[in-house]
Amino acid sequence: MLSAKRTVITLLGLLMAASVNNSLATGTGLSLAQQNYMLNCQGCHLPDGSGSAGVVPRMTDFIGYFLQVDGGREFIVRVPGAANAPIDDQELADVMNWLLKQFSAEQIPPDFHPYTSEEVGILRKNPLIDVSGVRAGLINRIQDKVGISEDGLSGT
Ligand code: HEC
Repeated sequence: MLSAKRTVITLLGLLMAASVNNSLATGTGLSLAQQNYMLNCQGCHLPDGSGSAGVVPRMTDFIGYFLQVDGGREFIVRVPGAANAPIDDQELADVMNWLLKQFSAEQIPPDFHPYTSEEVGILRKNPLIDVSGVRAGLINRIQDKVGISEDGLSGT
């Protein structure tokens, strides 16, 4: 009797472990890209990409603008938080493609082609030294091109 009970308890334990494993791997309904964003980016950029005024730029309804000006596509991968993330080139490419669509689909130009692991691998080996200087130049171009005055950093 006791051993039958034990067997049942052991089986239950195994079933529970299996279901936890399964939900971590696939059952969460989250893509690997989203999970990588949660683990590596959202601590600063927040779950909805809204960042923090004056400190962490807002991705929401903004990050896609960088793809509309020369140098922007490269910049958004070369920033330290992206380039130095502890994930491989394919995973970073997937996170970039995911967050652009997730937070800023309307600002992505129609001819955008998704990042590949090869492109990201080259870009992240070429770190940005003067992040805010390069950013300021790009923001000027964005403001001229799109006709906006916000800079994605001072909040909305
Ligand atoms: C420790 C906080 C932190 C983490 C973690 C972080 N970032 Fe950032 N991110 C920043 C800050 C601060 C900036 C502003 C530029 C700078 O100082 O690097 C920024 C800028 C950016 C930008 C440029 C946005 C703009 O408008 O200039 C992108 C794109 C970006 N991060 C992507 C990511 C991705 C992708 C990850 C995760 C793989 C990530 N970041 C993780 C803090 C972080």
